[in-house]
Amino acid sequence: MSEPRLVRNPLVAKGSVRSLVDGSRAFHRSMPDYRPTPLTALPAAAARLGVGSVHAKDESRRMGMPSFKILGASWATYRTLLAYLGHTADSGIELADLKTELASRPGLRLVSATDGNHGRAVARMAALLGLSAHILVPEDMVAARIDAIAAEGAKVEVVRGGYDDAIRRSAELADTDSLVVSDTSWEGYVDPPSWVIDGYSTMIGEILDDIDAGTVPRPSVVVAQIGVGAFAAAVARGFRNSAGTRLVGVEPTDADCVTASIEAGGITTIPGPQRSNMAGLNCGTPSVIAWPDVSGGYDTFVTVTDTAAEDAMRLMYADEVVSGESGAAGLAGLLTHARELGLGPDDHILVFSTEGATDTANFNRVTGAALAGE
Ligand SMILES: Cc1ncc(COP(=O)(O)O)c(C=O)c1O
Repeated sequence: MSEPRLVRNPLVAKGSVRSLVDGSRAFHRSMPDYRPTPLTALPAAAARLGVGSVHAKDESRRMGMPSFKILGASWATYRTLLAYLGHTADSGIELADLKTELASRPGLRLVSATDGNHGRAVARMAALLGLSAHILVPEDMVAARIDAIAAEGAKVEVVRGGYDDAIRRSAELADTDSLVVSDTSWEGYVDPPSWVIDGYSTMIGEILDDIDAGTVPRPSVVVAQIGVGAFAAAVARGFRNSAGTRLVGVEPTDADCVTASIEAGGITTIPGPQRSNMAGLNCGTPSVIAWPDVSGGYDTFVTVTDTAAEDAMRLMYADEVVSGESGAAGLAGLLTHARELGLGPDDHILVFSTEGATDTANFNRVTGAALAGE
């Protein structure tokens, strides 16, 4: 495993970052269990980093799922089905009516590759709509994450190799009855993954509301962990006009495809499979539609070890935030690189705890907690 590193981004071009799309928010409000997630103060993390404050957007409970990914998966599934049925994006059709209409298409299924959270969320959407789901996962995925996807009623296929191999297999399955709802994009496949990024706008909008209302300080540093970069693209869009806010992207040392691409000056695939403990970030190729906002929006990219992710999980849990390996990666980036980032008492930091304990056994081992599996 390579050493953690910090790369200042020579491609930064904030003016080129696209703006947030807000169509998803009204849709999410209409979904079962929608409510804004908390922005929780992390005083133990602030003390360790020597900064003014740290707040975490806590996505451990989002519409009945343990990660933010349902926001993108639900909006992308909805938009994909509207397009498939020939409805316009602004048709305002409710999920219940969509389900009724889909009942006349019994062979239809949703297909997605995942390193855990996105596929589980697509499976949940399929179940809500009465469709079947076929979810492809990399061979090293832990049983707890596979079981969670299967428990949504999906067929789970374990693909030899890593996340990129699962993506390739999902693309092969696309046909008129098999709609691929992927969170990453590639040449010729861009609409559903761009709707995934749009769906994350709901979370960013909640945060901007809190900042505007003064319930949390305006952040001087915003940190986003990166797999293929869809999430980081949504974050960049949210803070594109926030002068004086530094954006930091964080990847595992073993899954640093965006950092490597920045260093190479363009999208690069790194050798796989990626095997960091931050399963959601184990990706080998940046998403082509996320790339412009990620490469233009972030000031700095850093990489972190599995040990640092576990340290950050414990530190968050000290402030009662349950954060899984990928969820804690953003804070891990700050803990690892605080000195080079030049953090100080005037800094107010926003991190995203993007998942809860998606591997409960490991969470309990790392933190000493005794949570029951979901
Ligand atoms: C918990 C968690 N955080 C962050 C990410 C990164 O998102 P993206 O792949 O859009 O960069 C993922 C992706 O699966 C994830 O599961």
